[in-house]
Amino acid sequence: MDLSLYPPNAELVDGRLTLGGCQVADVAEEFGTPAYLVDAAGLRQRALDFQEALASRHPRSQVLFASKSFPTPSVMGLIADTGCGLDVAGLGELLAAERTGVDPSRVVLHGNAKSDAEIAKAIEMRIGYIVVDNLDDVARISQQATEPVPVLLRVSPAVDAETNPAMATGHDASKFGIPSHQITDAIERIRRESMLDLRGLHAHVGSQILNVDQFEQAIASLAQLERFDVYDVGGGLGIRYIPSDVAPTVDEYTQRLVGAVHRHLGTDVELLIEPGRSMVGPNGLTVYRVATVKRGVRTHVAVDGGMADNLEVSLYGQPFDPSIIDKTGRVEICDVVGRHCESGDTFVAGHELVEPEVGDLLVIPATGAYTFTMSNNYNGALRPPVVFCEDGRARVAVRRETYEELLGRDVRKSSS
Ligand SMILES: Cc1ncc(COP(=O)(O)O)c(C=O)c1O
Repeated sequence: MDLSLYPPNAELVDGRLTLGGCQVADVAEEFGTPAYLVDAAGLRQRALDFQEALASRHPRSQVLFASKSFPTPSVMGLIADTGCGLDVAGLGELLAAERTGVDPSRVVLHGNAKSDAEIAKAIEMRIGYIVVDNLDDVARISQQATEPVPVLLRVSPAVDAETNPAMATGHDASKFGIPSHQITDAIERIRRESMLDLRGLHAHVGSQILNVDQFEQAIASLAQLERFDVYDVGGGLGIRYIPSDVAPTVDEYTQRLVGAVHRHLGTDVELLIEPGRSMVGPNGLTVYRVATVKRGVRTHVAVDGGMADNLEVSLYGQPFDPSIIDKTGRVEICDVVGRHCESGDTFVAGHELVEPEVGDLLVIPATGAYTFTMSNNYNGALRPPVVFCEDGRARVAVRRETYEELLGRDVRKSSS
């Protein structure tokens, strides 16, 4: 089993997979499957690595964790406790950020359709910046503010990112930000409002970006505009999902990014970055149990989860690299599928697994980002727990949903 896609504290001990010193099989037994497992020490270290790599090259900087990639106070708080700030989109994420106890001045609010309630809460908390995405935001902030609110303006860097179209956000036709030909007017419009204090610009190219040139292009495009004191260049750094993927390291990424900022925008600006996928993705794995093995035209190995706990395949066609753990044997070519009523609920087709049998544990690495985020109740699935594995101890960070919670929002009373 190749552990290069696994979190840094994953090991094979006597042929058995461990994470943070915990046997994955024991964790699966204690907390059930499917379950999201997080390498807590690995994640903390990753957050520190990002900050060190950025600050050593550009001291006036901040790493903001993009909460949307794992929006729960336990994970956001673990990262914020290392010194990172938090980027949030939506009132729920803002409230989660508040619960972590992070210094509000290190919080940035996004959203292409912000509500009055979100803006009111952001103003009340005195967060670092509200990112203005459209002119309606300008009106909403003006109406609610009683003193000037620090804002950034999200602009299109006009970069067609080399990623799945659903993850490309930096082009002029994107629903996010102000398209290039309207930026100058939007800046003027904001400056006419006494309750908005425009400090800088924000641009986000997209997600799962493996070619760092694209970040450099975005920065060069920001330099076509007038100069500001603050630049938030978003997140987007891609990660390895399958063995053939090649992803830039945090060092390569920050070196190229800061180089471009210094060349195009100056050496004394405040520089913010918002990594999400690249922060949590490599530090999480999902553990399932094999529910059925059907040997027909193809061999379908179905696990006890699927698109309810991982929408990345259906949404972005993301390939994954599942393995059956803790056993050796003959390799078989299988389709690894989920338990939901969609043919598209397939993790991977034509994949090598070791002699799959009902009851085996199957693990998918690199599932730390956007899986918990988009978990859902398809076919009445209960959303899985999040378990931190560290120093030989497994502790629950988010417990599994219950059937009472699943049915609790519907008002129909039981007929029995
Ligand atoms: C504004 C903004 N910042 C940061 C991110 C995080 O991106 P990623 O998870 O790819 O690092 C996103 C996600 O698309 C985003 O929209």
